[in-house]
Amino acid sequence: LESPQETNTKLLKICQVLDKEISYYNWTGFYFKNGDKDELVLGPYVGAITDHIIIPFGKGICGQVAVSGETFVVPDVHSQDNYLSCSIDTKAEIVVPIFKNGENIGQIDIDSHTIDPFTKEDEELLNWLCDEVAKIL
Ligand code: SME
Repeated sequence: LESPQETNTKLLKICQVLDKEISYYNWTGFYFKNGDKDELVLGPYVGAITDHIIIPFGKGICGQVAVSGETFVVPDVHSQDNYLSCSIDTKAEIVVPIFKNGENIGQIDIDSHTIDPFTKEDEELLNWLCDEVAKIL
């Protein structure tokens, strides 16, 4: 297995490529389950600094995906009551869970400054990516 540092370098590169190549990905990052606690901790990311370093399970879009294990596409964040704002520029969000050995261990979180930008192709790309990421974790 790789060192945590090597893994984080790869995860950051993934964020950088997505941020560079896809114009409507405006904050791209990873959250992971924090040990055996019922909370997420922020991993590598590209985008605005966020207050949400730790997210309790159930809180926000990310916390809900930690519980449900299902992709959550939010075309308009202002329509969500259970949402944690990272930046006032964010209009939409997609969170895709990462499964390792059948366990929901984390997620990729993408915010967009465009309203309703995410398509089935984004879901497919991110699902594939999460499966690849699981292999190096
Ligand atoms: N918007 C997320 C919080 C994470 S920040 O966007 C980086 C949420 O509602 O869970």
